[in-house]
Amino acid sequence: MTEVRAADAARTYRIALIPGDGVGPEVVAGAVSVLEAVGRRFGFGFAWQELTVGGIGIDTYGVGIRPEDVEACRAADAVLLGAVGGPKWDDPDAAVRPEQALFALRGGLGLFANLRPITVAPQLIAASPLKPELLAGVDAMIVRELTSGLYFGRPSEPRTTPEGERAAIDTLWYTEGEIRRIVTLAFELARGRRRKVTQVDKANVLATSRLWRKVTEEVHADFPDVELEHRLVDSAAMTLARWPASFDVLVTENLFGDILSDEAAVIAGSLGMLPSASIGSRVTAHGRHGLYEPIHGSAPDIAGQDLANPLGTILSAAMMLRWSLGQPEAAAAIESAVSRALDDGYRTRDLLPAHPAEAEAMTLAGTREMARVIGDRIAI
Ligand code: IPM
Ligand code: MG
Repeated sequence: MTEVRAADAARTYRIALIPGDGVGPEVVAGAVSVLEAVGRRFGFGFAWQELTVGGIGIDTYGVGIRPEDVEACRAADAVLLGAVGGPKWDDPDAAVRPEQALFALRGGLGLFANLRPITVAPQLIAASPLKPELLAGVDAMIVRELTSGLYFGRPSEPRTTPEGERAAIDTLWYTEGEIRRIVTLAFELARGRRRKVTQVDKANVLATSRLWRKVTEEVHADFPDVELEHRLVDSAAMTLARWPASFDVLVTENLFGDILSDEAAVIAGSLGMLPSASIGSRVTAHGRHGLYEPIHGSAPDIAGQDLANPLGTILSAAMMLRWSLGQPEAAAAIESAVSRALDDGYRTRDLLPAHPAEAEAMTLAGTREMARVIGDRIAI
């Protein structure tokens, strides 16, 4: 009896859902319907726990996230998040901001690695602002450090100079342990890919960057089969636009990773396409504990209008199946369904080709329709 119950329990995954603000609830609903479809096909189910976090958390409880919400996320097998924030909560002097919820989750759950795969779906080459010949072979993975650096360094506060002038301070701080664990993950990932790591820093200026270089060299000694390149962040930014296919795994500190991943997202044709995973070292019964979210923000200008592209969130759900739930085949089924929906001409508004004649040949789909089309292609 006990064994049967254990087997049953292993087939129901507990997922904490954070729909958040703006388009967040719409794209999360789309991903939930796709996950339900893939669960039906592969014989597993989900127990959803929806949490009121972000700007909506501030409106409801007065804080972006409550300690019990962080605990619920810890207790779940994985977390699926839409987006948080919006102009309503943007006052720079406000004591509570929706983004604090992200930092409480990243720091509180020890999610030190943010994985942002950058690929270009062949069907979307026309939607990318880069020349088609630059897009062949683009397959990069940005590994961004997520729980240290300028985002977490203290002090971080307004100051006043002795002369009474307004000033402010942020602190860029890294320990060798924080660097070693993320760089090691980058090398491990590279081993399953094209065996190249580009470590991005500003070592000609910053002491933290010079520590990153030293520690990365030390870790590299354990991965002699992986090629290591150091690159300054300004040069990396330029090379991403000029020769994106030259990168395999990029590993970098928190703020550089934030900036470079938005730049890289442009290559894919739309920010709406790209997924992300934030993981730490903790493992559950099924895989690494993690938080999954699209790279795009809450897009308040199009919220509630069924216009948002749910594919970034749907592909994040695929990453969740692969990394946290031990279901790589189900993950691949979602990715293949997305690819077939694009083959069949379905496009959300952001994915339409710029040329009117090419756009006309496509089927314009809203958020719900796009998720339904993906679900249909999983069922078969
Ligand atoms: C991201 C976002 C966040 C970040 C913001 C919303 C605080 O840009 O996840 O990349 O800077 O980390
Ligand atoms: Mg960002």
